[in-house]
Amino acid sequence: MFATANATAQKSALAADGRMALPKDIFAAIETLKKDLNAVVLAHYYQAPDIQDIADYIGDSLGLSQQAASTEADVIVFAGVHFMAETAKILNPHKLVLLPDLAAGCSLADSCLPDDFAKFKAQHPDHIVISYINCTADIKAMSDIICTSSNAVQLVNQLPTDQKIIFAPDRNLGRYVMAQTGRDMVLWQGSCIVHETFSEKKLLQLKINHPTAEIIAHPECEQPVLRHASYIGSTTALLNYVAASPSNSFIVATEPGIIHQMEKQMPTKRFIPAPPEANCACNECPYMRLNTLEKLYWAMKHKTPEITIAPEIGSAALAPIQRMLEMSAR
Ligand code: 13P
Ligand code: SF4
Repeated sequence: MFATANATAQKSALAADGRMALPKDIFAAIETLKKDLNAVVLAHYYQAPDIQDIADYIGDSLGLSQQAASTEADVIVFAGVHFMAETAKILNPHKLVLLPDLAAGCSLADSCLPDDFAKFKAQHPDHIVISYINCTADIKAMSDIICTSSNAVQLVNQLPTDQKIIFAPDRNLGRYVMAQTGRDMVLWQGSCIVHETFSEKKLLQLKINHPTAEIIAHPECEQPVLRHASYIGSTTALLNYVAASPSNSFIVATEPGIIHQMEKQMPTKRFIPAPPEANCACNECPYMRLNTLEKLYWAMKHKTPEITIAPEIGSAALAPIQRMLEMSAR
């Protein structure tokens, strides 16, 4: 549905412009558009290097939400996936929020549909719902607290020990949080197509070839991969860890987009992407990679495609996001 809407919106925007040619210096053109629109470009670490290089802020999902909550810009250009841009719109219902390609979804968000989730909730009536930010606005609206990979443990630890919890939609992050907090939680069985692609066998082979490299991993990875990691954390946490670590080489078990910032900030260290099971590029998030610098330029030039959310869903989804922002600051 997003793909069709996006293609139509972009085609009509291009037709209205009367030409398809890109400016000679697309970086300069985007900088000019930022000033003209009073726009801020927020990018996730999984975006292509050129998008990261043009962004005003690059971060993990929590950092991006905090930036979206505090920005004074009139227009937010979100270089990430749909649920991230949607979160920015929920926090800024009266601002224009652009996503270069509306088809940039997320397998985790897609795994949790509102009708199914309503039935799941009904089976556990005395539980509160903590949802990972990787879910749609509809699911956020049905949740009590939103979390990200960087604050999930911290937030669960703030709840009374006898509080029963549903955790959705990522079962791998949920299992990791249970192990870290010693809490039992009812898990929605979703997962990320990128993080479940890493192969334990190939990881161990790589480690034999690079015996001094530290394995670091995102908590969306499955347990057979996580158990070999010397550090587990969100994309920002992984970046901070490699900066502080005395090691000179790392095997990175998350989407390889993060390696661009690691190499930029630590040019003397070596970062090796963890291998997927098949001989494919399936460790790259196909949704994140739908955004391109060209699409970002066209989105700003034509102020489309924009994120829209029904007001009643937006206001119901805002409360659990605000709860997350308050609890993260404690
Ligand atoms: P972060 O919390 O590190 O931004 O993770 C987001 C994500 O989509 C990981 O797949
Ligand atoms: Fe979703 Fe996985 Fe892509 Fe993150 S990496 S946006 S969880 S599909």
